[in-house]
Amino acid sequence: MSQSESLAMPDHLWRPLTQHALLRGKPRLCMVEAKGCYFTDESGKTYLDTLAGLWCVNVGYGRQELADAAHEQMSKLPYISPVMTAEPVSDFANKLKAMLGMDGHVYFSSSGSEANETAFKIARQHHLQSGQGGERRFKIISRYRAYHGNTMGAMAATGQAERKIGYEPGPPGFVHVMPPYPYRAHPKLSLEDHGEECARLLEETIIYEGAETVAAVIMEPLISGGGVLVPPDNYLPLVREICDRYGVLLIFDEVVSGFGRTGAMFAHLHWKTQPDIITFAKGLASGYMPVAATFARKDIFESFLGEAGDTSHFRQINTFGGHPVAAAVAMRNIQIVEEEDLPTNALKVGEYLRAELESAVGAHPHVGEIRGMGLLTGVELVVDRDSKVPLAESDMTKILAHALDRGVLLGRNTNTIPGRCNVLLISPPLILAREDADRIVESVHGALADLVERGATPV
Ligand SMILES: Cc1ncc(COP(=O)(O)O)c(C=O)c1O
Repeated sequence: MSQSESLAMPDHLWRPLTQHALLRGKPRLCMVEAKGCYFTDESGKTYLDTLAGLWCVNVGYGRQELADAAHEQMSKLPYISPVMTAEPVSDFANKLKAMLGMDGHVYFSSSGSEANETAFKIARQHHLQSGQGGERRFKIISRYRAYHGNTMGAMAATGQAERKIGYEPGPPGFVHVMPPYPYRAHPKLSLEDHGEECARLLEETIIYEGAETVAAVIMEPLISGGGVLVPPDNYLPLVREICDRYGVLLIFDEVVSGFGRTGAMFAHLHWKTQPDIITFAKGLASGYMPVAATFARKDIFESFLGEAGDTSHFRQINTFGGHPVAAAVAMRNIQIVEEEDLPTNALKVGEYLRAELESAVGAHPHVGEIRGMGLLTGVELVVDRDSKVPLAESDMTKILAHALDRGVLLGRNTNTIPGRCNVLLISPPLILAREDADRIVESVHGALADLVERGATPV
């Protein structure tokens, strides 16, 4: 389609996180196909997708096996009420349990937000029925900067002010604590002391809220979309100890970090810390089908066993949870992740990417810190390295536009914390090759050089 044809097209699509006033008079950017780590727009221009769609296309685009799995299942049994089940759905639940190496059950839904809402409800109902006097436990503690979804409960757990402006009040019972953030920690604290301090503040919060009112703590093992915050090694084990001490359930949101992104199949394995409940979505079917899961430990599941006619069972249903086509595609997707050992590729190419970024722009006056794990990388940009004042949003936008013009789609933590949306985000498909990593480095280097030439917005 030509530019003038594109301009003439009426467009009634309402896009997420988009100021539509800025799109007026501009041709629409419409993608038509994709292969590997690259997608192509309708004019034929290709882009390196360093965001794997929305951090989900882990096995890359154009996997015929996944299309075949969908076709086969759709031809055989396209849908079944989740109250019943189908073979691929049960098989997939069993597969997840086996991969996690924990005994428990899996509840399916179709988005990360729903998986987290489900986790909150399971946690609350479990306490009510566990026989351990948890009737008053309803509060959910989460962390600032973390994103847990857009539905009311998941949004309430989210620790990003800009995602809530105009949509509150949310449901009561959600409390936030600060996450470890080594780059901005008190300079006198060692990494370990910082981890201990953040864990101590979580414990204090539980005490101040009244431990008997706290149902669960939810956290991503490392914060992803909120700016790629990797915790000190002692933090998660300490969080586990604290939750156990106060009878609080620990939920890990592995919606982004699950299935290889951080260089291990699951991020919690890096810290040898097991949660009680885990949520998954994005990488489950690499975005080829919408599917999400909430895994709960065996004893939690068992607290829902009761008599016919009582209310002890889980009284929730998701029309598209346990979708047989989604399960068949997800199963095939996980097989690819395992067969091609994508967590190891993520580990190696991720380390290579950060090392190359470090040597290309690590000493740049606007680069505060390059950090991450596996193929999850954040580059925190600042006005200058001494003051650490976050780079202005308008400059972040220029950097992204410069890279996009040259065919590289970079991300940033958009609409998170007012004045703190200054982290470039790189979360590509897990099949990324070193040459693709080189192209990412080149684009970040070029965009920063361009910003210096134009002059960054002064403080
Ligand atoms: C860590 C995390 N949890 C939950 C969600 C919500 O997932 P969804 O957009 O599928 O509802 C997201 C989405 O980006 C996420 O990054």
